Amino acid sequence: MKSVLEVAGIYCIKLKKNPHIQFIGLEIHKPSIEQVLKQCELQKIENILVVDYDARLFMEFLPSNVVGRIFVHFPVPWDKKPHRRVFSAAFIEEALRVYM
Ligand SMILES: C[S@@+](CC[C@H](N)C(=O)[O-])C[C@H]1O[C@@H](n2cnc3c(N)ncnc32)[C@H](O)[C@@H]1O
Repeated sequence: MKSVLEVAGIYCIKLKKNPHIQFIGLEIHKPSIEQVLKQCELQKIENILVVDYDARLFMEFLPSNVVGRIFVHFPVPWDKKPHRRVFSAAFIEEALRVYM
């Protein structure tokens, strides 16, 4: 079974409901990372690799066709700072490459 990428949100309930799936959670906000790691420890969740890295750059490290799903949860639109947006043509291109 292929891994699942979680971007901009890692939800323990989803991890617990799918213990047979390996999740990779990409987050750059340290307090959010600490919170999810704490919850995983408390709830004994082991099917997540939490990566403190920019999701837009992380996919470059992955080979093609290794990801079964990619979820991007409510990323900030950054109306005044478009360079910070998660979604871009390059992001979609990389997402398709690792997915297909
Ligand atoms: C609006 S919050 C959404 C949080 C959560 N999904 C929710 O609905 O409450 C956006 C999240 O995306 C993360 N984020 C923004 N840009 C990112 C990037 N390039 N790579 C990884 N995470 C990113 C932020 O740190 C933040 O936690």
